[in-house]
Amino acid sequence: MKKSDTFHLNLPSFSISVRTLFSGYLLVMGIGFLMAGAQILLTHGMADGKLGVSVDDIVYSYHGNRNSSKLESKLKGSMKDKANALDRMILIKWAREGAKEEEWKKVQPVFEGNCIQCHSTIPGLPTFGDYESSAEVAKTDMGASIDSLTRVSHIHLFGIAFIFIFVGFIFSFAVGLSQKTKAVIIAIPFIFLIVDIFSWWITKSYPGFAWFTIIGGFGYIFAFAIMIATSMYQMWVLPYNGKVYTSNEWDDSQ
Ligand code: HEC
Repeated sequence: MKKSDTFHLNLPSFSISVRTLFSGYLLVMGIGFLMAGAQILLTHGMADGKLGVSVDDIVYSYHGNRNSSKLESKLKGSMKDKANALDRMILIKWAREGAKEEEWKKVQPVFEGNCIQCHSTIPGLPTFGDYESSAEVAKTDMGASIDSLTRVSHIHLFGIAFIFIFVGFIFSFAVGLSQKTKAVIIAIPFIFLIVDIFSWWITKSYPGFAWFTIIGGFGYIFAFAIMIATSMYQMWVLPYNGKVYTSNEWDDSQ
């Protein structure tokens, strides 16, 4: 079969080098999303002590568990198996009584014996090496701080938008879908990303909004999966089915 001499701007008609370039990117982004999913399961997913992301997890992560401290909820959750019942009780009692500095001498050995082997080596975790940082975790759990929300929000907005623009760019060359359909699919991740990030901020004060975090997250992962799967199929299956695709997908009149 000889392809037409004119250049067609669509996924099945691209040269093998362009298709390889696009596919490499999509593949790496797909793996990246899986890793991000695994990380969410391991951090937020464990916030209520049970595996799997639930509304409670989101509430604990952003709004906090305001009857308790992070130290106490972790010792009843994902850190439960890290110390025996007596040691856990000593730490929880210390937290409930206001994490007093006079008592630090009593609890320090407990942290040292059970916790610091991990906490002093894994970056981003409280180290339990001194009084101040340990007391921080033992205070009433008010959820994510404005500080960390601002940091994580801007990283997500800038970083994820970058992923979406290239994935959407590749998908914009897909054949067989109306321009309107493609426009909607391309818009979804951006809209849900904004919903997702805003929901963190609102959930910090109003725990009822935790649902939006889950809806937002699923929304953009869903649109992302459709774009990757469609693009890969059109780049690596359609070119070999003997048909010639003549559309110019960047021309609105097509
Ligand atoms: C085997 C390694 C390990 C040991 C031992 C360990 N931790 Fe952890 N800890 C982690 C990891 C990994 C995380 C992050 C994931 C999570 O939140 O479950 C974490 C998270 C935490 C958090 C939440 C930190 C945050 O800012 O979100 C607290 C509080 C905590 N651990 C307390 C303890 C205490 C108290 C002990 C000792 C009784 C302990 N951990 C022992 C690995 C460990």
